[in-house]
Amino acid sequence: MKVIKVKDYAEGSYKAFEIIKEVVVSNPNAVLGLATGSSPIGIYKNMIQDHQDNKTSYENVTTVNLDEYMGLEKDHPETYDSFMRRNLFDHINVKAENINLPCSIGDMEENVSKYESVLAKHKPDVQLLGVGSNGHIGFNEPGTSFTSRTHVVTLAEKTRLDNARFFNNLDEVPTHAITMGIQNILEAKKIILVAFGANKANAIYGLVKGEVNENLPASILQKHHDVTIIVDEEAGSKI
Ligand code: F6R
Repeated sequence: MKVIKVKDYAEGSYKAFEIIKEVVVSNPNAVLGLATGSSPIGIYKNMIQDHQDNKTSYENVTTVNLDEYMGLEKDHPETYDSFMRRNLFDHINVKAENINLPCSIGDMEENVSKYESVLAKHKPDVQLLGVGSNGHIGFNEPGTSFTSRTHVVTLAEKTRLDNARFFNNLDEVPTHAITMGIQNILEAKKIILVAFGANKANAIYGLVKGEVNENLPASILQKHHDVTIIVDEEAGSKI
């Protein structure tokens, strides 16, 4: 596991962007595993700027996202589908048919098995991750089996509280989601995890220095052969 400590969000976002760009430039047919939330927004801004300035092309890239909320209207601004369009897909030349997010409307058993088929065909060359303050990756909350695959989850209270900032109030935050499982995440060839801010310091300590334990899902990354963790001073203050 490689740990890179950076000064701040801007520096960390640029470093993560450079790794993703390298993957896309060396393989124009790359599969990018993408995340939502505050952590990757700066990375996506760099990708958009670079696409505009240097014409880095995503024409033949396929994307697979980690997760999606359940219970939101299809065009709600906080679905991860809306988030990805707004923050990345609408601004680069990725083809609509090459974009994949788990579907959270309709028969969930069918949605889970459809996403498993997508992931069987498209294993990420690089998977971008944030980490929850409770150590979740994707929406794999503490206690999730390390052997889990795509599944429906009940969001932890901590996660709903952390994410309430994106909604008008806590009641509006979904209680359930569909997420790639931990096994799916581990199948990525390369993993980049970015974390910024003091509320991530405990999770980063557990992830880098703690015991590999299902109570801290991110700790399993210690067992993957190609992981880069990028943290700012606050998130990295305990390692
Ligand atoms: C997002 C995801 C989550 C977030 C995590 C951190 O697709 O799967 O694991 O990466 O909750 O969120 P932020 O970046 O908002 O602190």
